[in-house]
Formats: sequence, structure tokens, C-alpha cells
Amino acid sequence: MATHPAVATTAVHAPLEILHVATIAPGQGEVRVRVEWTASTPLDLHQADGGLLVHHPQVLGDGIAGTVVEVGSGVKNLKLGDKVFGFGWRERKEKAYQEFSTLPEFLLGKLPTGFTLQQAVTLPNNFVTACHTITADLGLPFPWPKPVDYVPPRANDRILIWGGASSVGQYAIQILSYYGYCNIWTTASTRHHETMRSLGAMECFDYRSPSVTSDILESCAPQRTGEPSIPLILDCIGSLKGTVEPITKIAQSGAKVAVLLPIIVKDSSDESMPEYAMDVSTAAPWAKGVDAVGVRTHFYLNNEFFREQLQSSIMPAMLAEGIIKPNPQRIVEGTTLLERAQRAMDTLRRKEVSGERLVWRVADV
Ligand SMILES: NC(=O)c1ccc[n+]([C@@H]2O[C@H](COP(=O)([O-])OP(=O)(O)OC[C@H]3O[C@@H](n4cnc5c(N)ncnc54)[C@H](OP(=O)(O)O)[C@@H]3O)[C@@H](O)[C@H]2O)c1
Repeated sequence: MATHPAVATTAVHAPLEILHVATIAPGQGEVRVRVEWTASTPLDLHQADGGLLVHHPQVLGDGIAGTVVEVGSGVKNLKLGDKVFGFGWRERKEKAYQEFSTLPEFLLGKLPTGFTLQQAVTLPNNFVTACHTITADLGLPFPWPKPVDYVPPRANDRILIWGGASSVGQYAIQILSYYGYCNIWTTASTRHHETMRSLGAMECFDYRSPSVTSDILESCAPQRTGEPSIPLILDCIGSLKGTVEPITKIAQSGAKVAVLLPIIVKDSSDESMPEYAMDVSTAAPWAKGVDAVGVRTHFYLNNEFFREQLQSSIMPAMLAEGIIKPNPQRIVEGTTLLERAQRAMDTLRRKEVSGERLVWRVADV
């Protein structure tokens, strides 16, 4: 049986390890991809350090960029040698931190001309997250292709993206801006404010300022009686103290708040374990009438249209047309696969990521 190396978490808050796992031939509608690049995400840290939704030993990673090396029967849009990028997470054979990933073609898009795999690999998981949250959790429409002269029903409603410099935040701002929402507010470190405006944010606030919540509320023009000052809020970070509690001070009756799960009650550190909560409604004292929900992107395939089109066609088209700019990349170097994976994990744990994705080579050149 052919095998290949994969990076796995084998115990909670333990160093990563290399497993040699079976190389799976593609079945009906699937392809096998040689994974050349991946991008680490906070979920990898939640899984490695906190054991979140993990069955040990578990191969990690879900952002894939590489080359199609084997094609199963019934595959329609991909062929040998295609450069692809996508989001695979459902079972071991689809995961990203391994030399070969075997997954259905609907989880992959073709790399558009003019882009590198390192740029493209910043998209899949959080582009999908942004699209899923905007539609399933904030309840906004997502017409594709976008009709000429399209104006969305709530074009002028304030939408607060808390944590705009995060990967999810950058994609959410760009997608909302593309669809014509013109009152997007965000919080980010001041050094990212210019970038936030270039992506489509109208107002930027420094989340590190002790007066950030009153600054936001004072900037809101009076609303019609009974309407919340900010009707739609997306918490792209999900930190209990850092984001959820401040947002409870802003969210008024009638507001919809979507929080990216898990809620981080305590961050992981080199010395201690993280703590998480999953129930947004009870995690913090929401004002009466606030509809606060937790985002779970892994349910996005329930949307049949997204299942068929989001990664295979919309994601590459939005990248190719310049609707979405990839997150900036920081390449994580290392002489071995394990060294690169562990360095990226340590960088996440030390919270040394700001406005960028940690991107690293999987299969050796
Ligand atoms: N449930 C789901 O379906 C789902 C899907 C995707 C992601 N997530 C979760 O969403 C979170 C974000 O993921 P990501 O990949 O987008 O993260 P990321 O890019 O790694 O986030 C880093 C950014 O977070 C910002 N940040 C940190 N603390 C902040 C605060 N208190 N207020 C505002 N911004 C803050 C920093 O902004 P500055 O640079 O401005 O300091 C930094 O740029 C993670 O916990 C992840 O697990 C959940």
C-alpha cells in the first residue's frame, strides 16, 4: 500500500508528529492533489492545543493548494496537471497537512492565471466562512452572477465587522463591499485602517482603545425609534473578553450578531491549555432582543448552490476578477514538513499574526 507523510496532532497540547498515512486513489467525482502549499489557521491551534472536535491521532489542516495528480471517474472540470486550491476538512483523506489529499472536485477551484498557489491558499477556508456567515447567519442575499446595477435590500444598514484585519474579516469586508453594502464599519489595529478602507470599510475603530465601544456608539447617527444603531454585527475573532463582551455593549435590541465559534474563554499559551465555549447566547449578557448566533462553516454544504459552485466556480472567479484580494502571506520556512508545521503552530500560539496568513510548503519541491 502506498503511503505519504502527514502532520498530525496525537495528544492535547503536544508537539506535532509525522504519520505515514495511506495514499487514497480518487473515487467517483474525486481527484488526488499533491499538496504544495497550505495556510495555518487558528482552528489548527484550537485542535492541537485544545483538542477541539478532535479524535487522536488527527491529521490537521484544511487549506489546500497544489497540482492534480490523479483523476477519478466522472470528474468533469479538472484534469491531470491542473493547479487547484480548495477547502477540505471532512475526513482524513481530504485534509491539507499531508503530501496528497483526495477530495471531490466541488471542493476545489482552478488557480486563475496571474496568481500563485501561495496567494490562493489564503482563500479557501475563510472565503467560504465569509460567504456562509453573510448568507446563513446574517441572512443577506448572495446573487451570483451579480446582476448589473444590483443594489442589496439593506445597502445602507450599518454592518460592523469586529476584527477586520483577520483573514475572515478581510474577506467579509470585500464581499459585502462588492455586493454594494456601503456602511461597513470595522475594528482593527490602527496600522491596518488604511487597508481596511481600501477593502471597503467606511469607518475604522481601534479595538485596543479602552473607549472603543463608546467611540463606536457615539459615531452612530440617531436611528429611528426602536431600531438598533448597528443592525448587523460580525465578530470575526470570538474572544470572550476581547470581542464578545465589548460587542454586548454595542448590540441593541433587534440587532443580529454572528460570532465565529469557538468562543475563546482562555487563549492557549506555551504553559497552559486553552478554554472554549460553544453557546453564544449564554456566554455573555446580551441585551434583550439581540439575536446572537454562533457561526459553523462546516455546515455550508447544506446550501446546494454553494456546494456546487462556491469553491469550484465563484471563488476562482472572484479572485480572477479582482473582487477578492488574497490575504497577505508570511512564508513559514523550515527544512522539514514537521518543522514548518510546528513553527506555524508556535507562531499562532504566541499570537504573532497580524493582518496576514501563515503559508508554508507541504510536499517538498
Ligand atoms: N466557526 C467557524 O466556522 C470559523 C471559521 C473560520 C474561522 N473561525 C474562527 O475565527 C477566528 C478568526 O480566524 P482567522 O483565521 O480570521 O484569524 P486570524 O486572521 O489569524 O486573526 C488574526 C487577527 O485577529 C485580530 N484580532 C485579535 N484580537 C482582536 C480583537 N480583540 N479585536 C479585533 N481584532 C482582533 C488581529 O488584528 P490586528 O492585526 O488588527 O491586531 C489579527 O490581525 C478564529 O478563532 C477561528 O478559529 C471560525
